[in-house]
Amino acid sequence: MDNYDGNILIMADPDAVAEEAAGRFACAAVKYAAEAGRFTVAIPGGSSPVGMFERLASPEYSSTVPWQMTHIFFTDERCVPPDHPDSNYRQAWEQLFSRVPIPDSNIHRFMAELPVEQAAAEYEKTLKSVLGDDLSLDIIILGMGQDTHTASLFPDSPALKEMDRLAAPNYIEKLGADRLTLTYPMINSSKQIIIIAFGQDKAGAVHEALSGDQDPIKHPIQGVRPVYGRLLWLIDRAAAGDMCK
Ligand code: 6PG
Repeated sequence: MDNYDGNILIMADPDAVAEEAAGRFACAAVKYAAEAGRFTVAIPGGSSPVGMFERLASPEYSSTVPWQMTHIFFTDERCVPPDHPDSNYRQAWEQLFSRVPIPDSNIHRFMAELPVEQAAAEYEKTLKSVLGDDLSLDIIILGMGQDTHTASLFPDSPALKEMDRLAAPNYIEKLGADRLTLTYPMINSSKQIIIIAFGQDKAGAVHEALSGDQDPIKHPIQGVRPVYGRLLWLIDRAAAGDMCK
């Protein structure tokens, strides 16, 4: 783990990871709502956040989180309409937003039905208008693919080099498709970054990320380095692989 200067929590299994993530989400929501009058968070798509969504929608958590003061953004989006089966927004709507009392006006999705450049520009405007001068999210929750991509920052993709815009289009060769993604400047300005990875199929990516050659172009997750915030890996034993030995 020589490439790494953050914290790594190795949990027993995916359920424990989900529980820890939901607990940290709820605690941060209460803290920032009390201190700043609002809580700002970005969530990913994919399977990694599903357990956390489930817990946040349960009575235990849904009654704790100050949803009226919670603003939810997305780390990335597929270039599809919001009701498309592949939409990260649709997943979050079905598994979380539709089950908790969060105002629609507090949900900030990519307008992924627009042309990709316009959608990215609109999202940057949204980030700036909601966050104001402090473009630092309270928490950003990230998943990681087996190829160590995160958000929609894939290996060797153009948006890895985007150091000015907060959100950008990103053509992904191997998918043959455009994506929309937060960029490193936006991700790394967060007060807290939580990377969720669990399961045997992520062990290789975790090893590459933490012990492989330092090369964010090949391993985009390695470019996640908060400027002044904190970084936490929430992984389970299966994803930790030989770290547990
Ligand atoms: C997405 C996600 C993406 C995800 C990784 C991991 O749009 O799919 O935002 O970055 O976090 O692909 O996916 P899993 O969580 O499904 O392993």
